[in-house]
Amino acid sequence: MTDTSLPPAAEIRGLTLGYRTRQGLVAVLHDISFSVGRGEVVALVGESGSGKSTLAHALLGLLSETAEISARRMLLDGVDVTDLDEAARRRLHGRKVAQIPQDPTMTLNPLQRIGRQTVEPLRIHGLLREPRALSARAVELLARVGIGQPEARVRQYPGALSGGMRQRVLIASALSSGPALLLADEPTTALDVTVQKRILDDLGALLRAEGLSVLLVTHDLAVAADRADRVIVLKDGRRVEQGPVAQVLRHPRAAYTRLLIDSAPQHGPVSATVPSSVQAGAAPILQVEAVVKDFAQGAGQLRAVDGISLSVHAGETVALVGESGSGKTTLGLLAELRARHGIGYLFVSHDLAVVRRIADRVLVMRAGQLVEAGPTHNVFDRPRQGHTRDLLAAIPGQGLSAAVSDPRHPLLPELEE
Ligand SMILES: Nc1ncnc2c1ncn2[C@@H]1O[C@H](COP(=O)(O)OP(=O)(O)OP(=O)(O)O)[C@@H](O)[C@H]1O
Ligand SMILES: [Mg+2]
Repeated sequence: MTDTSLPPAAEIRGLTLGYRTRQGLVAVLHDISFSVGRGEVVALVGESGSGKSTLAHALLGLLSETAEISARRMLLDGVDVTDLDEAARRRLHGRKVAQIPQDPTMTLNPLQRIGRQTVEPLRIHGLLREPRALSARAVELLARVGIGQPEARVRQYPGALSGGMRQRVLIASALSSGPALLLADEPTTALDVTVQKRILDDLGALLRAEGLSVLLVTHDLAVAADRADRVIVLKDGRRVEQGPVAQVLRHPRAAYTRLLIDSAPQHGPVSATVPSSVQAGAAPILQVEAVVKDFAQGAGQLRAVDGISLSVHAGETVALVGESGSGKTTLGLLAELRARHGIGYLFVSHDLAVVRRIADRVLVMRAGQLVEAGPTHNVFDRPRQGHTRDLLAAIPGQGLSAAVSDPRHPLLPELEE
């Protein structure tokens, strides 16, 4: 919740930005104003090219040489950066705003100990120099982000840590210089939904517990609905809407926001309520029995697909879902060739929000095996397997559908604007 006894983490008024190109100055942001209060999570939502990352870079002080920026006011933690000289401005941005790397596969330097990398921002900004103090701070930071036995971990190299732990180290590093604002640009869109959810849940709990301020950059309104207190909608570099999440979802003022809400796959009918065009008794256009696919891996073999049987009928859309590495693509390639000859459709995805909208039947894979299969509404409403339930729980936007479909059910406590 917002703490009003401190200045806002960021307060931006009339930010206009363009890039110098051979064709002249290309305007990217037009007169943008917003603030991020203490302890507030604000989502910046907009389609590709709307200027989200440019705005994030402006806050980080990391714009390219070709950028031309002007603002009436640009306060970070109460300090106006607009009048500072270049060097002072860079220092302030670096200390007051930190980027949360949201990709756990992002590699830390494999040759440097965890402890040193955790406190790297402190060293860079010259906030702490004494080696003992630095290593004590590293231990403290790792404990803060939930890493057990931090005294031992600081001496280890990244290779000894799991992906999740590395992610926590990266968050600890972002927190090290005590930034007023944390910036998270495009959370984990390339990752599996379950991994994505775990990371965002952990991060969310930390943010709420410590009252940290965050600007969450995403093109996915569903992610914003689940994670943010307030939302700013950007279109073609203009702020078209802003307000508390629940209010924006229920009473969008801008037609563009309405469009984003309506086109979110999270709400709307389950596809199976739409009559399917499958003819009873027709022969399948694709039928595979007990498919096994092995890949050579080192000296051994990796079984990517382990005895899968499935069929697709003309006019039917069957979705094959699972996490990455569950063998979907291997099978999908084979199926694509076959399905091209009929009008059946085998849809390979881990995006369950989309699957819910378009598939007649769903097959859930895990570790190369089918763990659950059935009509879409059965699988979504009454999943039998724990793995299916995990996948369903990880779909972003549960908050979005709740807010839009049931206005009596509050999404989040409404905040004063
Ligand atoms: N260094 C640059 N020079 C010129 N134009 C740029 C530069 N960086 C970004 N742009 C342009 O600015 C506009 C906004 O880009 P930006 O990366 O901020 O969009 P975005 O909302 O983050 O998009 P995405 O969702 O794809 O990440 C785009 O038209 C882009 O081509
Ligand atoms: Mg971007």
